[in-house]
Amino acid sequence: MSDLISNLYGNPHSESTPSALAGRRVDEIRQRALQFFNADPDHFDLVFVANATAAIKLILEAFRDDGADSGIGGKVKKKGRGFWYGYHRDAHSSLVGVRQATNGLHRCFESDAEVEEWIQAVPTREEKERTCLFGYPGQSNMTGRRLPPSWPSMIRQSQKRQNTYTLLDAAALAASTFLDFGNEVNAPDFTSVSFYKIFGYPDLGALIVRKSSGAILQRRRYFGGGTVDMVISIKNNWHAKKNSSLHDQLEDGTLPFHSIFALDAAIDVHQQLFGSMKDISAHTAFLSKRLYDGLSQLKHLTGTPLCHVYKDASAAYGDPATQGATIAFNVQRPDGTIVGYTTVERLADQNGIYLRSGGLCNPGGIATYLEWAPWEMKAAYAAGHRCSRPTEVMHGKPTGVVRASLGAMSTIRDVDALVTFLRKAFLADAVSSDAYMGGQLAALDSDTSVADSLGLSDKGHSRPARAQGWKPQIRNFIRKHVAIKKAARAGA
Ligand SMILES: Cc1ncc(COP(=O)(O)O)c(C=O)c1O
Repeated sequence: MSDLISNLYGNPHSESTPSALAGRRVDEIRQRALQFFNADPDHFDLVFVANATAAIKLILEAFRDDGADSGIGGKVKKKGRGFWYGYHRDAHSSLVGVRQATNGLHRCFESDAEVEEWIQAVPTREEKERTCLFGYPGQSNMTGRRLPPSWPSMIRQSQKRQNTYTLLDAAALAASTFLDFGNEVNAPDFTSVSFYKIFGYPDLGALIVRKSSGAILQRRRYFGGGTVDMVISIKNNWHAKKNSSLHDQLEDGTLPFHSIFALDAAIDVHQQLFGSMKDISAHTAFLSKRLYDGLSQLKHLTGTPLCHVYKDASAAYGDPATQGATIAFNVQRPDGTIVGYTTVERLADQNGIYLRSGGLCNPGGIATYLEWAPWEMKAAYAAGHRCSRPTEVMHGKPTGVVRASLGAMSTIRDVDALVTFLRKAFLADAVSSDAYMGGQLAALDSDTSVADSLGLSDKGHSRPARAQGWKPQIRNFIRKHVAIKKAARAGA
């Protein structure tokens, strides 16, 4: 990278312009990113975007503009009819938001069975007359449940759904599984990913496009600098879009060069530290089963489970086909009442354990697993509950969850530390939970404190550092990253 930078900033012997050089390097890294997903560049293109949400919005723009137009492109051509959008209950808010561009023609599928019935069903008139888009997450960002990868090919094979495109939101899935595009015929038409969820950095995302489905993206009306070969703006309105590649037409403005160069380094470091994504998948499947089993064993003397874990009936921890390395839960008191999720997060924070809590931008998951009817949610909003300023429990029901996510860098010790923390902090037969308020956990048991065993307290830091070479850097990195994210969330 330093060679590249010296070339870009004034190497007098370089024959290429800086931007030509940078462009070539970006394309090399684009190929590398495709290779990471086993995606053949003859069949797939990769568009660099800011994050998974930006990838989803790019699809929205193209479908909205296609539906607003007559003329070429799209599988069904009806002037001004908009598009139809179906999405799965487990979708992240960023995927749900696509419905806003449909003029009300959308449907939320409340179960897998509903999706599969819809694929086989005779399309409604609205669906027949429009281009349709079906969006779903590869993995729920709330429960970690993994959804069937077979839907894109089922839709493609269905004679009734020839005007339907598929959008797989792989933002959560790609972090701990091998996203394999080896079989072009079964691949989704469009896939969104966030690289920082896989590698920790850089702040960059991508839209992976199956080239044979890419024509509809050319229907997007907006053009930005970099996506056009000529624009006339005086006395005439004319422009010519670039026709070299899909990514050339979709990457508006200056590319995030530094982030793209950093992606190359991120792939290298990730492979050196953690091996292949298949290794990571096996590692995280093992750890998440251990965590699930550990949490399930924690019970009050009354028999009430300490943790109410929100798990789909079809998913099994330890089976990477159905369940990712995320556990959503709430902590219960002996009488079954709920401990506020931010209380659990704050207490864990004070003891060096990083959890996330709240509604998690997963409206369908929260409504389903926590059993909130729409009118109850509206009433909660009217009573002052907000994602950013939550009322944790209303009418005895939690409004959110605590979520533990495991990744390539997680260890058995991390998992055991979380179980130990919950046991000590919230089980009456361990120690009174009041004693833990204010970050007293480490002081109560200096030999086995959570912060210590995670290597996050000053005292414990040197031990794992000596034992495992790279760990302090990774832990420091995570610690800083989490602090920045929390500060950003607090400010939002
Ligand atoms: C499943 C899923 N989709 C989309 C997103 C949004 O990703 P980003 O914030 O990178 O746009 C997330 C973020 O956590 C996610 O988990």
